[in-house]
Parts: sequence; structure tokens; C-alpha cells
Amino acid sequence: MRFRSRMLVDLGVLADNYKKLKEICPNNEVLFMVKADAYGHGVLPIVRFAVVELGIKEFGCATLGEALNLRDELFDLEFEVYVFSDVQLGLKECSEIYLNRRIIPVLSNMDDLRYVLDNQDFQNFPLCLKFNTGMNRLGIHHERTEEVIDLLKRKGRKSVYHLLSHLSSASLSMEKNKRNIFQREKFNEIKKAFSDANIELERTSLSNSGTIEQGFGLDNTHVRPGLMMYGPTSLIGPYRHLSKWTGRNISSLETYIIKVFPVEKGQPIGYGATPVSKDGLCAIIALGYGDGFSTRYMGATLEHKGHEGKVTGRVNMDMAQIVFDKDAYDQLKVDDKFVIWSNDPKSIMRLSDETGTIPYEIFLHLTARVPRVYV
Ligand SMILES: Cc1ncc(COP(=O)(O)O)c(C=O)c1O
Repeated sequence: MRFRSRMLVDLGVLADNYKKLKEICPNNEVLFMVKADAYGHGVLPIVRFAVVELGIKEFGCATLGEALNLRDELFDLEFEVYVFSDVQLGLKECSEIYLNRRIIPVLSNMDDLRYVLDNQDFQNFPLCLKFNTGMNRLGIHHERTEEVIDLLKRKGRKSVYHLLSHLSSASLSMEKNKRNIFQREKFNEIKKAFSDANIELERTSLSNSGTIEQGFGLDNTHVRPGLMMYGPTSLIGPYRHLSKWTGRNISSLETYIIKVFPVEKGQPIGYGATPVSKDGLCAIIALGYGDGFSTRYMGATLEHKGHEGKVTGRVNMDMAQIVFDKDAYDQLKVDDKFVIWSNDPKSIMRLSDETGTIPYEIFLHLTARVPRVYV
């Protein structure tokens, strides 16, 4: 475990982000996506805060294990939790957990749907159906809508607790992208087919962050934000101007400078003896790939007290070299706090853009060696 390298999670910023989210979609309920340890931020404090302070009542996990962890650890709180990806309904021990712990499996194929409808124990259990409208990953294909409706009718089901679909291209334009238009149309057709068949849809949702940021899909009862709640936009570069999102990163990643020394152009540093591209100053920081500071960050720009440095040479397991111009001489000090990303979302967007990755992955790279500290 590190002491001075840490991820600071500011729950006050999470509250601000939620307020800003509600300004975009005042009439929608929020199903907050907290899979993968709340996108690396620590799921238990995030969900506790979201329930107690923000009044959010529904959460999305990827796996049954994640959902069960919430039920076990936050047994004193009331909330709904859904499992989106790794449902494992066919395993008896899993289906018992769903039933006994009120965890809602998102049914994404006909086999799981039939299993639930044929099983007496699930007779009064919330039915959550996910349709594939063009993402072509999980989901019941939209062309099977009538088949699903017939099956529900035959089994005497008069309502669906939550009907949803997921968009493949929400990081692009919601208005102009053909796939987004197609998926939205298909989802509307599915909803209409259900209401024409007199099957009540208690909840519907389509929008993840990119969709919400552009103000789309709000004609459903719910939205399902993930990334935006943690700060960054999920729109990619050329489409960012379409985003209404003004949230801030709820986290900042801090480390400190272990050592500073002058370097000359051509001087080899670190593993692989990478030659330095110019005369300057090298700061060694206390983060490496063992902390989730990826080897992919080589060449990325990081700022310190108004000076720009470059991650130079190979990132090591425990540390990394950042080379600055000589004019940073008075500013780079051993023991200085060094911030990789701050609450300003631009800091993480720059890191992800420069290294060809995405903010989701940057957050999730962080390993357990970096403590999460909550303020
Ligand atoms: C079904 C579903 N809904 C919502 C989300 C949230 O997405 P985002 O983090 O882009 O808001 C995800 C995340 O992958 C998802 O799988």
C-alpha cells in the first residue's frame, strides 16, 4: 500500500455532479452504474453516499458477485440493484441469490427469459428485459419482440418491471449518427409493441452518459449514467462540443516526487536506457504500472506548477520518469506533491487523448496499492 500516492475521492463533487445531471434530466429517475468497483472509485462509499445523501435508489452492476457485495456490506440501506452482464441465471446457487437477496438479473436472451417465466419461484419477481436494437452484444434481438410479447401473454404476465436497450455509439452524435438514430427508432417500436399488446412498462431506459450528455433518451422513466457521474465526458474528441456536461472529476490522483536530477539530451534513463530528447530536469514520481500508471502513458504530458513535463522512458513497476525543461528548475522539488489528474476533467481527457485510451480505462487501471481516500 502507498502512503503518499493516493486517489482522493471528493464526495462533495459527486453531489455537485448529481445536481448537474438532474439539471439535464429533471424528470428521470437515475439508475447509477457502479460496476467494476464504481469505475475504480470504491463502490461501498460511493453507493452509501449516493443512497444516504443523494437519494439514489437504483444501481447497476456487471456481475452477481458485485451486486451481492452491495447487499452484504450495505444491508442497512434500501436500494435496488441490477446485474447487467454476467447473469449466470442457469446456476442454481445464483438463481437462489437473485431470489433471496432481491437482486434483479437483466434478462438478455430467450433462454434466461424462459427460465424465469417457467420457474414458479420467479412468478412475482421483477422482470427486466434488455433488447438488442443494434449494439449486437447482449440483448434479445429487436426482431423477436412479438415472440417475447406472445410468450409473456401465454405466461400471464401483464407488466415488465424495466425494459431497456443500450446504444453502441453514444460517444458520437446522437442526432446525426445513423446507428444512434436506428437504435432509438427500434427502441420506440419495441415500447409501442408492448403498449399495443397491453403489457405495462413500469420502467424504461436507454441513455448512458453520452446519450444523457446530449439530452437524448429522456422520454423514458430512467437514465443509466456511469462515467459522467465520476466526472469526464464520454464523448470522443470531435463530438465533445455536443455535450451539455459540466461535471468535474470526483477523483484526483496524487503522488510525490522522490528525486530530481538534471539530464542532458541523449542521456539514457531507466529500463531500456531511453535517450532523453532534450536537456532538462527529470523528476522521479512514486507511481508505476504496479499502481496502474500504465506503460502506455509514455510520452504523455503532465503538468506541475505551470510547467509541462513528458513521461519519458519506460514506466517501471514502482515509479516513472517525467522530464521537464530546465526552466522548471526552481519549481521541481523532492517531496513535492505531484498531481496526475485533478478534479478538472480536462486533466484526464488530456491524458486519455494523448495516450489513445479512454477515461474509463484510466480510472480502472488503478490497482489496490493506491489507497482511495474519501473527503
Ligand atoms: C447497459 C449499460 N447501461 C449504462 C452504462 C453506463 O455507461 P456510461 O459509463 O458510458 O455512462 C453501461 C456501461 O457500460 C451499460 O453497460
